[in-house]
Amino acid sequence: MAAGKVELEPGTWLFPLPVVVVSVGDMQDHNLITLAWVGTLCSRPPMVGISVRPDRYSYRIIADRGEFVVNIPRSDQLDLADFCGTRSGRELNKFAALGLTPVPAARVAAPLVGEFPVNIECRVEQRVPLGSHELFVGRVLAVHAAPEVVLDGSIDPRRVNPPVYALERYYAFGEQVGEYGFTRRPRPAR
Ligand SMILES: Cc1cc2nc3c(=O)[nH]c(=O)nc-3n(C[C@H](O)[C@H](O)[C@H](O)COP(=O)(O)O)c2cc1C
Repeated sequence: MAAGKVELEPGTWLFPLPVVVVSVGDMQDHNLITLAWVGTLCSRPPMVGISVRPDRYSYRIIADRGEFVVNIPRSDQLDLADFCGTRSGRELNKFAALGLTPVPAARVAAPLVGEFPVNIECRVEQRVPLGSHELFVGRVLAVHAAPEVVLDGSIDPRRVNPPVYALERYYAFGEQVGEYGFTRRPRPAR
């Protein structure tokens, strides 16, 4: 024990994580996979990473096609995300089972999910086999947002209200507690 803390197993204790539903394939033959091991990697060029186990049905599709779409659900769509993360495309067509709408993307063959408010089209630039998971580094080619979540030309996270994931539990997005650089601004007079 160091500094009075409880020492835990070395592991992936980082939280919270986003919950996204990634669409793969094309307009005729497609699948959905829910992922939490995802992140922003680079701003210029814009790059996101998704970490996928090679035994997932979606893994081979992403590897072969070199493209995917990251769809961000709202908290009230959490059941759709959990469904896509607990059934395999080997067993059923998740779009059809959930009544989701595949929408043609602008720059990739994989469909957007029409019902999810944010869709990020990506082309795989690098693959990094890590062990249990393989990291796909995706370059962002196009981003789409439903008009109701857009504010002043940007996405308003509160309007999306995405679910977040922390140690196998889902939570709502939560309250804003600050903004970038607020400690550098002059404090209001008291
Ligand atoms: C909240 C949540 C997060 C998940 N995150 C990942 C992940 O980051 N990487 C991964 O390979 N699988 C992850 N999974 C598991 C896959 O979504 C799951 O195995 C899915 O059924 C695979 O679908 P497929 O076989 O159709 O590709 C997650 C599941 C859930 C419910």
